[in-house]
Amino acid sequence: MLTKIELLNHTFKSPILVASGTFGYGDEVAGLIDVNQLGGIITKSVTLEPREGNAPPRIAETSAGMLNSIGLANLGVEKYCHTKLPQLNKLETKVIINIAGFGIDDYVKTLQILENHDGNHAGYEINISCPNVKSGGMQFGVDAVMTESLTSEMRKHTNKLLILKLSPNVTKIEDIAMAAEAGGADMISAINTVVGMGINIHNRKPVLNTVFGGLSGPAIKPIALANVHKIYKAVSVPIIGIGGISTAEDVIEFIMAGADLVQVGTSNFKDPSIGLKITKGLEPLCKTLEVTNIHDLKGTLEYY
Ligand SMILES: Cc1cc2nc3c(=O)[nH]c(=O)nc-3n(C[C@H](O)[C@H](O)[C@H](O)COP(=O)(O)O)c2cc1C
Repeated sequence: MLTKIELLNHTFKSPILVASGTFGYGDEVAGLIDVNQLGGIITKSVTLEPREGNAPPRIAETSAGMLNSIGLANLGVEKYCHTKLPQLNKLETKVIINIAGFGIDDYVKTLQILENHDGNHAGYEINISCPNVKSGGMQFGVDAVMTESLTSEMRKHTNKLLILKLSPNVTKIEDIAMAAEAGGADMISAINTVVGMGINIHNRKPVLNTVFGGLSGPAIKPIALANVHKIYKAVSVPIIGIGGISTAEDVIEFIMAGADLVQVGTSNFKDPSIGLKITKGLEPLCKTLEVTNIHDLKGTLEYY
């Protein structure tokens, strides 16, 4: 298989995973597509306590993507374990549980509760990059010392994959990536959304209730690519590239920039089968690029 990826003792059917918050728990689209053909599913961020998230409007379209300020709405980890985990356990693709929190204790307790339930999931993606909550998450994502402390604390509680999800809303993302690696992260995923806003000129109000939100979709692909490449130059752990991916060519760009795997996010809202369509498109591209496995393209970017 040209697109099968062997990484850290895990086999991913393809390098295409679906991004947190853009694919539910795989259940909403189960009747529409065969989610098991995907490389993996990252579930919506779960927190220790249930959260309603921010008041509407919390989603708005822009000319090149979307703005959201969902604010980590989710059912809380206890309910997650009882209602979502059993369904996720039945999937035959890699499941990665995304965790968000507001302090080290919070993240660790959520992780421990998940570890105490029977889960077939391959690992955890730790969201330290949500721009849509007043405190928490992002405090870690912008601070290398806090990132390392959080990562090493979480490392003590799981042998499953530990993936730190980084924010582009920082001066030097590579410093945060190195801190996550030093703390024991198995992989880095990047990027979360880019802070943005929009204005409705007729009512003179911001398009989002929270004024600022996170921009995602095609508009952020060049930003994501640059961040992935900076991370690639700074760390040796595998990288999951995220941001504006909607075609097989986009995936190849991320892999050439240094990614091992990718996640498709906002494009799922347009077409929930986009991940599978992109996967199909990768095989002929690999042949054109004359590689026997897509992973051979990792970091093959050549400078002028
Ligand atoms: C509506 C929406 C909800 C999201 N919720 C989460 C979330 O709960 N946790 C998280 O880590 N990222 C969340 N994200 C960020 C995505 O996982 C992804 O990092 C980002 O959208 C960039 O990828 P894209 O341009 O392909 O969408 C969300 C994005 C969107 C658009």
